Amino acid sequence: MKALLMGAMAAALLATTAAHAQMKPEDMVEARKAGYQFMAWNMGKIKAQVIDGKEPFDQAKVAAAANAIAAIANSGMGALYSPETTTEQLGKATRLKPEFFQNLDKAGQIGRDFTVAANQLASVAADGDQAAIKKAFGDVGGSCKSCHDNFRAER
Ligand code: HEC
Repeated sequence: MKALLMGAMAAALLATTAAHAQMKPEDMVEARKAGYQFMAWNMGKIKAQVIDGKEPFDQAKVAAAANAIAAIANSGMGALYSPETTTEQLGKATRLKPEFFQNLDKAGQIGRDFTVAANQLASVAADGDQAAIKKAFGDVGGSCKSCHDNFRAER
C-alpha cells in the first residue's frame, strides 16, 4: 500500500515537472523578445566602434559583444517558437507572423544562416581585424533583416 502511494506520488511529481518544462506562450514571447533586444544592444556597440566610428575601437569590448550575440544565436531559440505564439493567437503582444509556421524550411534556413553568421562574427572579433569584423557584422545584420522582412509583422 505504501509502495503504491509512493509510486502515485512519483508519477504526480513527474507530471508536474513535464508541465513546467512546457513554457506558456506568453513566456516564450517574452523570452525571445528579451533575447533579440539583448542582441540588438550588442550589435549597437559593435556598430558604434567598427562601422560609425563614434566610439574608439576596443577589441576586447567588440569581442565580448560578438560573443554575447553568438551565445544567444547558439542557445536554441527555436524552442521559443511554437505555433500558439503568433499574432493570430496573441494579437499585439507579439510580432511573429503565422507565415513562420507555413514556411518552416525557409525559417529554419534563415535561422541556421544567422547562427553561422553570428559564430563567424565572434571568430573574427577574437582576431581583431576590423575589416573582417565589418564584413561579418554586415552579414549578421543581413540575417536579422532577412528574418524580420519575412516573419516579423509591422508595428
Ligand atoms: C529567425 C528569425 C529572426 C532572426 C534571425 C532575428 N530576429 Fe529579431 N525578431 C524576430 C521576430 C519574429 C521578432 C518578433 C518577436 C515577437 O514579437 O514575439 C523579432 C523581434 C526583434 C526585436 C524587437 C524585440 C521586442 O522587444 O519587441 C529586435 C530589437 C530584434 N528582433 C532585433 C534582432 C537583431 C539585432 C537580430 C540579429 C542580431 C535579430 N533580431 C535576428 C525574428 C528574428
